[in-house]
Amino acid sequence: MVDPKTLFIASLEAGREFLRPPAEREDTQEPRSAPSIVPIRSLGENHRERIAQHLLKLTPHDRYLRFGHWTHDEQIQRYADSIDFDRDEIFGIYNRKLELIAVAHLAYAKDQQHDSCAEFGVSVLSSARGRGYGARLFDRAAMHATNDGVSLMFIHALSENAAMLKIARNAGAIVERDGMESEAYLRLPPASLDSRVSEMIEEQIAQTDYRLKSQAKSFWSFLADLQKIRHDTIDANQRSSS
Ligand SMILES: CC(C)(COP(=O)(O)OP(=O)(O)OC[C@H]1O[C@@H](n2cnc3c(N)ncnc32)[C@H](O)[C@@H]1OP(=O)(O)O)[C@@H](O)C(=O)NCCC(=O)NCCS
Repeated sequence: MVDPKTLFIASLEAGREFLRPPAEREDTQEPRSAPSIVPIRSLGENHRERIAQHLLKLTPHDRYLRFGHWTHDEQIQRYADSIDFDRDEIFGIYNRKLELIAVAHLAYAKDQQHDSCAEFGVSVLSSARGRGYGARLFDRAAMHATNDGVSLMFIHALSENAAMLKIARNAGAIVERDGMESEAYLRLPPASLDSRVSEMIEEQIAQTDYRLKSQAKSFWSFLADLQKIRHDTIDANQRSSS
């Protein structure tokens, strides 16, 4: 459950972010460690194109690890176009420039006989790795699956994918290796009041964080436009007086 202290720290972080001008932020890479709370939001139809853009930024080897085979741009686009937002759940992490740096896909079985199972897939941009985002997305997806009545979440990964298998093992999944491929199974507990309330709060925090980032982006670009008009006016005045 998200405690009030964490909420307070999260709102301070969001406020500080809003006031930091882009000049201070543009050159900096993603922060080296994840903030105390990672705003993970559920993504809908209007994020489809940004999901495609995120996946297209992955290197060929990352795409191979993500999908289990070598994937061309057209296949990535087809995959993004085919995401069923009504059936499945997509989670994302946006940075302050509103770039989608991490995406997880919780895919529900199409066959109703297997509606207590869901498959998890994830990708994090290389510039944002090693900060716990992959693991946090896994936890978020597991919480959502629990609240949706799923009892088994599974992950299909290549056996060489040490990071993904570590995330699964750390969460308590059983990993079965079959040559080059591995399957991990995580048994989920039944939903509880705590899991439902936690998910609601986390989603609210993520939506608020996204709104603040959007407003900050518009605010700083508005200021940049004003500055440009001011400079253009000064230049024009100087030209006319010389
Ligand atoms: C797999 C992936 C999502 C991990 O994302 P991430 O945000 O870097 O992962 P985290 O920072 O949450 O690390 C999770 C754990 O893996 C470990 N780990 C990370 N990279 C590792 C690596 N290259 N080798 C071994 N362990 C690694 C971390 O130490 C951490 O374990 P710990 O908490 O016990 O220290 C990311 O590497 C990725 O996008 N890869 C390409 C796509 C892919 O493989 N998707 C998974 C298939 S569905």
